[in-house]
Amino acid sequence: MWPYPKIVAHRGGGVLAPENTIAAMRCGLTHGFYAVEFDVMLSKDGVPMVMHDPELGRTVQGEGSIADYTAQELMELDAGAWFGVNFIGEPVPSFEQVAHFCIHHNIWMNIEIKPVPGFEDQTGWVVAQAVKRLFEHSLDRTPGALPLLSSFSFDALRAAQLAAPDIPRAFLMDEVTPDWHERLLALGAISLNTNHKHLTPLLARAVKEAGFGLFCYTVNEPARAQEILSWGVDGFCTDRIDLIGPRFGEEPA
Ligand code: G3P
Ligand code: MG
Repeated sequence: MWPYPKIVAHRGGGVLAPENTIAAMRCGLTHGFYAVEFDVMLSKDGVPMVMHDPELGRTVQGEGSIADYTAQELMELDAGAWFGVNFIGEPVPSFEQVAHFCIHHNIWMNIEIKPVPGFEDQTGWVVAQAVKRLFEHSLDRTPGALPLLSSFSFDALRAAQLAAPDIPRAFLMDEVTPDWHERLLALGAISLNTNHKHLTPLLARAVKEAGFGLFCYTVNEPARAQEILSWGVDGFCTDRIDLIGPRFGEEPA
């Protein structure tokens, strides 16, 4: 059984706040989301930072590769101005800052390991070690108490498995290839996380019958959300936290 929340706020606050910032996590929380997905990659000095793109410019002001900036330098860049005047000065957060915010507010984390190309092993290792350290003294041993690490990078997840075998992993696949089962087994992954656009009822059934969790990204239309849930999908992340609430699918029809 899927021990995690069913509906997860994508990049913290979906379309309502600048992605992958503390403001986004706070926005998700304001909308009742106690479950967030966010992306993590390493700075030049090997510090896990919450960011989506390996290059600056789209949401974070600046130019060049993330791998050329230290954590301190990244934390001084603006990650909110692109979104709106209310968010000018919102900084790039470190993973540690976001994790502390989530732990403090009891928010479950789906941590997507998104390595800068060429840094797959190192990123998987560092992020998994960081999660292990954060949760090693936690007394909550219930299924679902730990975050879920996910990645499109097989190598990053394998490194995470070596670094912290007890932190659950999910393999992200955009279009699911025929070797999905083999790959999940090789990674000791508990879940397949996939693009809902390519999902079919047949594949959903096969994944569930094989005993894995099935999680989708990024589902922004309520009718589509209902449809994939009816196929047995365990959960999904959404940008439209204004349309799809944390209790979606539980309300009486
Ligand atoms: O983790 C699911 C989803 O976030 C994957 O795609 O590009 O939004 O990080 P992306
Ligand atoms: Mg992501």
